[in-house]
Amino acid sequence: MKVTPWEVSGDIDYEKLIKEFGTEKITDKLLSRIKKHTGELHPYLRRKIVFSHRDLNWVLDEYEKGNKFFLYTGRSPSGPVHIGHLTTWMFTKWLQDKFDVDLWFQFPDEEKFLFKEKLTFEDTANYLKENMLDVIALGFNPKKTKFLIDTKHAGLMYKEACRIAKKITFSTVKAAFGFDNSYNIGQIFYTAMQAVPAILPSAMAGKNIPCLIPYAIDQDPHFRVARDALPKIGYYKPAAIHSVFLPPLTGPGGKMSSSEANAAVCTTDSPEEVRRKVMKYAFSGGRETVEEHRKKGGNPDVDVSYQWLTFFEENDTKLKKIYEDYKSGKMLTGELKQILVDKLNIFLANHQKEREKAVKKVDKYVLKL
Ligand code: TRP
Repeated sequence: MKVTPWEVSGDIDYEKLIKEFGTEKITDKLLSRIKKHTGELHPYLRRKIVFSHRDLNWVLDEYEKGNKFFLYTGRSPSGPVHIGHLTTWMFTKWLQDKFDVDLWFQFPDEEKFLFKEKLTFEDTANYLKENMLDVIALGFNPKKTKFLIDTKHAGLMYKEACRIAKKITFSTVKAAFGFDNSYNIGQIFYTAMQAVPAILPSAMAGKNIPCLIPYAIDQDPHFRVARDALPKIGYYKPAAIHSVFLPPLTGPGGKMSSSEANAAVCTTDSPEEVRRKVMKYAFSGGRETVEEHRKKGGNPDVDVSYQWLTFFEENDTKLKKIYEDYKSGKMLTGELKQILVDKLNIFLANHQKEREKAVKKVDKYVLKL
């Protein structure tokens, strides 16, 4: 298994990641503590899709003392947004609504420029425009949400980035990200830019504000490095809350990527495309023949359509029935796939409608200089 911010491969063992990265599991005790504030638990928390954290208890201690945190997450514009990205942001929106806090959303439009041989700044500018619409479409409160675009807000960020960079050695970066001497110097510096939003609101306010960062676990190396560096320049260590990856359609494990067109569902896919991809490519836990399936049942635990439904079907009772019917052989793979197709297409129809409306809202979100 390999999990870095730029590469995820192999069979992902999340328990092992918790140990290797040194994060903490979200326990039932912590879940009840969250529930005290939120009234209900998001399905991703109930289902352990959001499974790990750093310092979440501290953030809640501060919150209970009346010291609100802000949320920080981001997206590097390097391709179309797929539904895996949306899942993390939907959870972030839930946190924002439940705790009534600010969200800083970073678009590091230089990151993938530095990391991908062929990507130009023209490409990233186009993706930035498109990707912002997907974020806005999810309905973040414009009064409490600020978009930070690295190349646009560089003047605001650069001093902080340098302060942070001064506390990070080349050998730390090599060890955290697996870089060798062939990497370009922009790549080596980049992690400092991703650390900036975790302190920028504090720097601007002139006082320390706790920060909570929701992200898929592959981004963790950045924040491990940031958590070491930031206290050295007088700031809190940012807290974090981690989700598992939405697996690619071709599964069973791994992480969805926009560069594998058949393994991802993008936010602008038409209903026909969604149907075609799911029917043709979704990794199935079904048996070879209908007779065998009816007799022995399918395996929902490896079936990607079922896995996806755990991200998109909010109703626990419905989900449980699908699980049981598929496992017993009562439900066939075609029927399971059909349930997923319908669910995704309803979700995407609404998302695409909101995405159209978002075109006029961009200015409300981008931080004013
Ligand atoms: N590096 C992330 C990406 O590749 C973008 C990002 C920037 C981010 N800041 C973040 C992700 C904070 C999660 C949390 O898309």
